[in-house]
Amino acid sequence: MTGLNDPKSRLIFALDVPSLDEAVSFVQKLDGSVGMFKVGLELFIKEGPAVLTAIREHSNAEIFLDLKLHDIPATVERAVQSAAAHKVRFLTVHCAGGEAMLKAAVNGAGDSGLQILGVTVLTSLGPNDHREELGYRKGLTLKDLTVTRAGMAAKAGCAGVICSGLEVAAIRQNFQNLKTVVPGIRQNKNNLGGTDQKRVVTPKAAIQAGADYLVVGRPIRDAADPKAAAQQIVQEISEALSGAK
Ligand code: C5P
Repeated sequence: MTGLNDPKSRLIFALDVPSLDEAVSFVQKLDGSVGMFKVGLELFIKEGPAVLTAIREHSNAEIFLDLKLHDIPATVERAVQSAAAHKVRFLTVHCAGGEAMLKAAVNGAGDSGLQILGVTVLTSLGPNDHREELGYRKGLTLKDLTVTRAGMAAKAGCAGVICSGLEVAAIRQNFQNLKTVVPGIRQNKNNLGGTDQKRVVTPKAAIQAGADYLVVGRPIRDAADPKAAAQQIVQEISEALSGAK
């Protein structure tokens, strides 16, 4: 299951759960309904690489290792080499680590098939946070910062970037070859399913703006029927794609 023509292949489920047992239970529930499973910090720090083996035992879907690396280039390069041995499809690194670090990540992946995604600006940051809390230059918009960081990722040879649905169109316009992976997906913007996501868009809006993949966690994880929730999102992706033709 690779081609992006299959709407399901665009949906990445964030396995944001604390244990291997819960992860396996979600993989069993959602196998066949999503294109990829994302393993993030909570699960990987708790269970380690065993969780990747367990996912593979229960599904043929691809795996995205969301470790958001941010360290000196030599350390990141070696960490990426270790990750490449796990045979996952995507691995994230923070663009804020600088272009040399992004290049080191790409080098670390070598020709293993592992693709590096640069995190531009977290979707949990809003328009005021990056100035007031993080001290970025006055007048710099989140969109400017995101596009600048996407440019760094493109120059460093990353396969794609993580960005919010609000900036995906600008990235598409400037960097046609970067894959765009969009978290902060909410079907109802008034129901944020947790309070940390600020730059949110609907599945339809993200696809219409040109997103290649959508990352969805809590709206599926916390639904009464996670499989039905995933299928509903795939349906919206499908409608947005056919409307876009
Ligand atoms: O639950 P929710 O749908 O908000 O989950 C979004 C997922 O995407 C989380 O696993 C989070 O770590 C990840 N993510 C994000 N923003 C980024 C990069 C990754 O929300 N910029």
